[in-house]
Amino acid sequence: MAFDHRKYVPFQPIAKTDRRWPDKVIEKAPTWCAVDLRDGNQALVKPMNVAQKQRLFDLLVKLGFKEIEIGFPAASQPDFDFCRKLIEENRIPEDVKIQVLTQARPELIERTYEALKGAKRAIVHVYNSTSTVQREQVFGLDRAGIRDIAVNGAKLVKDLAAQHPETEWTFQYSPESFTGTEMDFAVEVIDAVTGVWRPEEGQAVIINLPATVEMSTPNVFADQIEWVCDQVRHREHISISVHTHNDRGCGVAAAELAVMAGADRVEGTLMGNGERTGNMDLVTMAMNLYSQGIDPMLDLSGMAEITEVVEACTEISTHPRHPYAGELVFTAFSGSHQDAIRKCLALRNEGDKWNVAYLPIDPFDLGRRYEEVVRINSQSGKGGVAYVLERDYNISLPRWLQIEFSKVVQQSAETNGGEIDSLSIHNLFEQRYLKVRDEWALRGYDLHRDEQGVYAEVTFGRESAPMRLEGRGLGAVEAVSAALEKRFGLAIAVEAYDEFALGEGTRANALACIRLTAGDKLCSAAALAEDTTSATLQALLSAVALAVELKAMGESQEAKADPAISA
Ligand code: KIV
Ligand code: ZN
Repeated sequence: MAFDHRKYVPFQPIAKTDRRWPDKVIEKAPTWCAVDLRDGNQALVKPMNVAQKQRLFDLLVKLGFKEIEIGFPAASQPDFDFCRKLIEENRIPEDVKIQVLTQARPELIERTYEALKGAKRAIVHVYNSTSTVQREQVFGLDRAGIRDIAVNGAKLVKDLAAQHPETEWTFQYSPESFTGTEMDFAVEVIDAVTGVWRPEEGQAVIINLPATVEMSTPNVFADQIEWVCDQVRHREHISISVHTHNDRGCGVAAAELAVMAGADRVEGTLMGNGERTGNMDLVTMAMNLYSQGIDPMLDLSGMAEITEVVEACTEISTHPRHPYAGELVFTAFSGSHQDAIRKCLALRNEGDKWNVAYLPIDPFDLGRRYEEVVRINSQSGKGGVAYVLERDYNISLPRWLQIEFSKVVQQSAETNGGEIDSLSIHNLFEQRYLKVRDEWALRGYDLHRDEQGVYAEVTFGRESAPMRLEGRGLGAVEAVSAALEKRFGLAIAVEAYDEFALGEGTRANALACIRLTAGDKLCSAAALAEDTTSATLQALLSAVALAVELKAMGESQEAKADPAISA
């Protein structure tokens, strides 16, 4: 059988009884390091050219990154050239440190320093693999052999840096495949490296602990980080960094728990581009902090620009459901969600803390528009449809008409499939409720009140052949209904009737909506007019027009069914 779980062994967590990290809360942003131009780039089908690298570097600077890994200059000529370009063209802001990666091999370390010549400040990031599987199966070395590679690399890094005192150097070491390394051995190698670099004497040192492959649940990774933080020498003089990958889909969670467990620094990429399932997504982690009221120390307000640049440089499109950045992540299609969002937004006052159902953050903060929040498809309900009409056309519908019209919209969405935009919703409303046929267009009215109620005279129809009717009732609607009942032989009962003054920016001043029964027929209509009486009478005429039409259709159906009548 090909699909057999017995092929795999469970990850062995470290035995730890003194864990403190579960009670910790993240209160400030870690130091960020963006590795898009190195780890992200190494994962691309088509690696970035120098122009793309420059564009992404400029974006990272603009977003506020102060540490940016720009490449692996000893392994790639474009990375070498890009590093030289940044230095020679003085393109690195004063408060930004570039970082470059190198394996702990002498020729590569030497070439790395060539690439960095003239830099004002730089982080030299040296690594070698320490995991059991790599030791045994890739390098064929024992623990001492692997530790020697790290120590020799660290020595050369230190010696070459000493030859260039004009640069402010930071040294970074990664025990690559840290998560697959025995923790006591990881600490042994780290201590051996810091023994060379001497952070306690003032040398800036970063120890980066990569989940090169994410192998366990994030809590197990957090245990590893807390354990290393407790065990390494000179902890107070070194910056502990984490670099998580996303193989199990928990890259962000692992980095967050690692920060709770003591990590000071986090490496990742925008949108999580990176090898296999990607690196830790900086956008998601930073926005998670932001949503908790913590300054992420990055400015992600121009999310459209971020996704545009990342997509152009990586040639990978952003998933519409990508946290915070995707096209659909602030959109509600479902009726109950739309209702809740609409109510919360209506209750919100300027300056209030954000507390809106279904929206973890204010989309506006990322340059999104509220228009995108409520979108309509066949899953949407009356609230969403009403919200769109009100928001875009200033048309407020009574509840009974919201319910009725949302079914019309739903039917149209089901027939056409997919989304139905605001203009189409308005067109549907116009067609179904507002359209006035010439024969039923109100031309004039005269209303008088006396001791018996209201006397109404109403004129409607084509200009060439208007119809004038008279009726009496307790109010205008009843009086005109009575006239229409008599003329068309209908039994009219008005079931619901609402009128609204319209907001500024509309041609008409009033909207009236009416629902009546005529025999067994239920007919609704609405009308826009300059005054409420005209709107009301037109809505009544349009509803009666529908009743007359339905009656005529019914009669012709009956005639067809009974030849005796038609004869
Ligand atoms: O994932 C990894 O282990 C790396 C190292 C080189 C830090 O990218
Ligand atoms: Zn990596």
